[in-house]
Amino acid sequence: SENVSGKRYILALDQGTTSSRAILFDEAAQAVGLAQLPFEQRYPKPGYVEHDAMEIWETQREAMRQCLQSAGVRPDQIEAIGITNQRETTVIWERDTGKPIAPAIVWQCRRTAARCDELVQDGWAEKIRDKTGLVVDAYFSATKAEWMLNRSPELRERAAQGELLFGTVDSWLLFQLSGKRLHVTDVTNASRTMLFNIHTLDWDDELLELFGIPRAMLPDVRPSSALYGETDAAVFGARVPLAGIAGDQQAALFGQGCFQPGMAKNTYGTGCFLLMNTGDRPIASTHGLLTTVGWQIGDEVTYALEGSVFIAGAGVQWLRDELGLIQDAAETETLAYSVPDANGVYLVPAFTGLGAPYWDPYARGTIWGLTRGANRAHIARASLEAIAYQTRDVLDAMEIDSGMALQRLLVDGGAVQNKFLLEFQAGVLGIPVVRPEQFESTARGAAFLAGLSVGFWPNLEHLTKLIGTAATVFAPQMEESQREELYQGWKRAAHLSRGWLQ
Ligand code: G3P
Repeated sequence: SENVSGKRYILALDQGTTSSRAILFDEAAQAVGLAQLPFEQRYPKPGYVEHDAMEIWETQREAMRQCLQSAGVRPDQIEAIGITNQRETTVIWERDTGKPIAPAIVWQCRRTAARCDELVQDGWAEKIRDKTGLVVDAYFSATKAEWMLNRSPELRERAAQGELLFGTVDSWLLFQLSGKRLHVTDVTNASRTMLFNIHTLDWDDELLELFGIPRAMLPDVRPSSALYGETDAAVFGARVPLAGIAGDQQAALFGQGCFQPGMAKNTYGTGCFLLMNTGDRPIASTHGLLTTVGWQIGDEVTYALEGSVFIAGAGVQWLRDELGLIQDAAETETLAYSVPDANGVYLVPAFTGLGAPYWDPYARGTIWGLTRGANRAHIARASLEAIAYQTRDVLDAMEIDSGMALQRLLVDGGAVQNKFLLEFQAGVLGIPVVRPEQFESTARGAAFLAGLSVGFWPNLEHLTKLIGTAATVFAPQMEESQREELYQGWKRAAHLSRGWLQ
């Protein structure tokens, strides 16, 4: 085949919350191979979410192998590897053995909510926001790492000696891929830890002290597009440059080609994340959004405003895995179309509290408006509508914070295959929703960052051409009065779900 002739590729590793994926891109930025492996979600207590970091690595490794094998591509045909990942999820491991000391605490985990209350009571909120761009919340890595180290004084001592290493999932994968040589992260992942100053682009000593995190255990912070090192041949089958890293939401922003300030995308994955490029200026939110690093290439830093919604696709997975209401996620589309409306039912998927713009760790999932006639189809439809309503919540906040009105919303992620969702989304926003032909934006973004750093692709103008303009546009079909009536119902349902645990 032509591959044997030595065609070159970029391999993107997309380590998400519920699966590890590997996607192969050719020079035209077309995805020519894909493998995906799910892994176990653990919920040891209400509000807790854990992963086995070893399983994350093993499924990622197997996904790479299967991806190359099915495409008939050899490891030495890979020009560079880009990594993108679920953000904030915290791993601590032994430098020598490469073994995690405890289960990874997942971004969705609420176990440190009380600690965050304490921080707010002690007056840290403003300082933390100024330095990190973040709202004090259990979502971010700082209190998760603190919690892990608090289990024994011996752990903190070993961390100070550099025997234990901290990392988000990107660092963890890079460490393993490099044969335990590299301990590195990029600015986008660092900006989600609540330990990183997004203005000076360095770990913040005051915050490290606050959380008792020794600097010795932290990875070096590098740009998102850079030569970090190489894969270990014994691990990957060849020595290949590791050349791009970005958190999955920032990678999607990049992969959608949102290179100009004011451009925004919404990714529908486990959660739902709306990010807007704000250029070289970090904009502080006054409406519950986060200020975060979009990416860094060379010395140039691009910032973003972000609305983080914790449960989107995961709500549909819940209907499938925990409730057994559907067999597979795609079924929700048929069910949603089978009824004219949700029959007054609202599902608020606050399974791990509520993120932007509410930031309430004590909210819990609820189904409101049940009557005798409410059925399976209404509940399935309500689970999709909830995704659209939550997006409206953050889009409204973003327009106020940025002072810009979005003319259309670019979307990507697994759930955008659901036509009902996008039609309803356009209706509830009152602007067109635009789904590009290629909606693997997250993996593509990681590939772009890696490809740029090794010269596989020359520059952003070239990437914009590769992305192209082919897209499906979903125009709003809803009357203004209906839109506002439905949305007011959502606001009420979300409000009623708050503070359940307090
Ligand atoms: O902040 C969490 C986010 O990075 C997870 O993304 O795609 O797994 O929903 P995803």
